Amino acid sequence: MATTEPVVYLNGEYLPQSQARVSVLDRGFLFGDGVYEVIPVFGGKPLRLHQHLDRLQRSMNRVSLDNPMTSDQWNEVFQSLLEKNPGGDRSIYLQVTRGAAPIRDLSIVADIKPTVFIMVNPIKPVDYTMLERGIEAITVEDFRWKACDIKSVSLIANVMIRLQANQSRAVDAVMVRDGLVTEGTASNIFLVHDDVIATPPNSDCLLPGITRDLVIELARANGMKVEERDIREDELETADEIWLTSSTREIAPVVKINDHVVGAGSAGECWKKIIVIYQHYKQELRNG
Ligand code: PDD
Repeated sequence: MATTEPVVYLNGEYLPQSQARVSVLDRGFLFGDGVYEVIPVFGGKPLRLHQHLDRLQRSMNRVSLDNPMTSDQWNEVFQSLLEKNPGGDRSIYLQVTRGAAPIRDLSIVADIKPTVFIMVNPIKPVDYTMLERGIEAITVEDFRWKACDIKSVSLIANVMIRLQANQSRAVDAVMVRDGLVTEGTASNIFLVHDDVIATPPNSDCLLPGITRDLVIELARANGMKVEERDIREDELETADEIWLTSSTREIAPVVKINDHVVGAGSAGECWKKIIVIYQHYKQELRNG
């Protein structure tokens, strides 16, 4: 069966994916000198668009990169690209690199134009029965830099740590820095103990997740207690529940960490409550 080729956006043009070309001198390619965002779209509506664009702006400020488009312009391109790539639930991936310089040099030549690339990917509908069974994770020393709040395309450390997890037959790794839990390789972490939900505070050691903030907000609005506080590694062993959250993974229960079974070894009661609330939020977005 013939499949339609995705249409992507590259520097002002809409192109079939296979025709999109970037220079080998692009600083994103040579140095990982760029930032990105992943925005989930339900029923054609981007979830928490302003928050994603705000975080993009903060990432750009942190790396001294000028935002090449206003929020309205970003939104216009997203809408065109969603129209050109029809489908169910999708995610928008965007990246902005510092662009292609005349020669490979770490120093930034003032007048190079950023490279803007955007694509739309289908999101596999979440199978909640599967999700409820949970995932296995391992703990890994977080050897990344002190700028993890930047959503940088330089993800080699995350790739290495994810590989280590996958080689141990785990789905993901929970990273630990100086005895404190930071985040997953592409997700934020929550713990539940005695019905109190905890997640590490935002800092330069983790990405300020949009799903993280939404989960905190929805949990509090529904009478659940949430603390933003440091989480020690040993708390992973006493937690009743552990969740990993992200735009694409939503809220995934971790049922085994290293050789330790978390709670009853399947999704816990707090997860069952929050996932219904989260689904309801998504449904309202679709209907709204
Ligand atoms: N990653 N921490 C890291 C290191 C991440 O890469 C991500 C998301 C998150 C969760 O952020 P959010 O809730 O805004 O998706 C936390 C995306 C999904 C990715 O790289 O594909």
